[in-house]
Amino acid sequence: MSEKGNKIKPAEGKLGIMMVGLGAVSTTFIAGVEAIKKGLAKPIGSTTQMGTIRLGKRTDKKTPLIKDFLPLAKLEDLVFTGWDIFPDNAYEAALKAGVLEKDLLLQVRTELESVKPLSSVFDKNYIRNIDGPNVKQGKNKMELAAQVMADIEGFKKSRNLNRIVIIWCGSTEAFLKPQAVHQTLDSFEEGLRNNDPSIAPSMIYAYAALKLGIAFANGAPNLTTDIPALEELARTNNAPISGKDFKTGQTLMKTILAPGFKARYLGINGWYSTNILGNRDGEVLDDPDSFKTKEESKLGVLDTILQPDLYPDLYKHLYHKVCINYYPPRRDNKEGWDNIDIFGWLGYPMQIKVDFLCRDSILAAPLVLDLVLFSDLAQRAGMRGIQEWLSFFYKSPMTAKGLYPEHNLFIQEIKMKNTLRHMMGEEPITHLGLEYYE
Ligand SMILES: NC(=O)c1ccc[n+]([C@@H]2O[C@H](COP(=O)([O-])OP(=O)(O)OC[C@H]3O[C@@H](n4cnc5c(N)ncnc54)[C@H](O)[C@@H]3O)[C@@H](O)[C@H]2O)c1
Repeated sequence: MSEKGNKIKPAEGKLGIMMVGLGAVSTTFIAGVEAIKKGLAKPIGSTTQMGTIRLGKRTDKKTPLIKDFLPLAKLEDLVFTGWDIFPDNAYEAALKAGVLEKDLLLQVRTELESVKPLSSVFDKNYIRNIDGPNVKQGKNKMELAAQVMADIEGFKKSRNLNRIVIIWCGSTEAFLKPQAVHQTLDSFEEGLRNNDPSIAPSMIYAYAALKLGIAFANGAPNLTTDIPALEELARTNNAPISGKDFKTGQTLMKTILAPGFKARYLGINGWYSTNILGNRDGEVLDDPDSFKTKEESKLGVLDTILQPDLYPDLYKHLYHKVCINYYPPRRDNKEGWDNIDIFGWLGYPMQIKVDFLCRDSILAAPLVLDLVLFSDLAQRAGMRGIQEWLSFFYKSPMTAKGLYPEHNLFIQEIKMKNTLRHMMGEEPITHLGLEYYE
């Protein structure tokens, strides 16, 4: 290990993973980790578990596994808990979510049953289509944040944990634009005391985490930590933050395909995307306010990948439409259709149709694992505030003020791997390669 890599604190002891929301994604993640630990399955889709990283020149033939190259926490050292508005333990919640087969769930039943949800911070104004009894009471939002902090400290102490990471796997909250209350830590704390309606439950969890210097990742498109006040708190308390919205399904496809069309200078006139989805996430997104949050997150990707201002002849007239339709019979097995109207040489039109019969939580679960392990690593490496290198995992990546986000999956991957090399004191790889021909 290089001198730089030596500066990363080792992954000693147990790592607590606290999930806000014990629904389809969270339970598929926990059940998956337990199944992998028992040798029942492989960690397919996970960068930290399956990925490799090239070091040095191609002729050096040095390509270790990422998990062997970096001091990541081991699956055996992960301890899970979460918050939910429903009192079901993770086994009951997984059965209800209907993602994994009962045969598999039975083999990890004891481990799942031991994950019982803590009572939640919930506000009907932010999530309209569901309601549950497992909710905290408090005289103001600051008091609720204090209760969340007590949950975190209680979990750490009772399970004898060395470190904790928190990840939002809860439902998508109603659309919210940054307001004055979100601008500074002082105004935010004042807002917590005054029950400011613009402070969403996800922000209360995030505030509690960051106040304790704990890393927070956001798998939904909610604003959450993407506000100056919480960014400031993350930097002050040396906590990494990242978000927003796991990049799975249709948007993953989009960020794979669009960079290819752009690289070949093929024009696009229209990109029509529609989905049918029947799980609880789909039910929440059936509310126009929650859908608006998701829509913003899904629409952003094409503009930044295609750069219509630089290529007006190719993308100026692009019409981009995204629909999600709640359709219970399909449950978690989403179907996403894309119709892409492209044009080539002399403007001749062509069409591409994509029909992705995907499984939402199967695509999201490995991202939860990678995000918690990388957030913990970043914290031990002394990286604080926004972790832009984790954009690879998100639909709507957070960036420093004034920077546009990078959505191209392949640029995101290069950035992530170069960051890992940099953390360990290895040279970044530019793919220039002229030296092979000198
Ligand atoms: N599965 C994917 O591919 C994918 C991709 C991107 C984003 N997401 C997002 O991830 C999130 C989780 O997805 P899911 O399919 O597991 O949804 P889900 O509905 O199965 O689970 C979400 C859980 O969060 C709980 N919850 C809601 N508000 C809460 C609060 N304030 N405190 C504690 N718990 C709360 C709900 O009761 C529910 O059990 C959603 O926001 C979804 O949009 C999922």
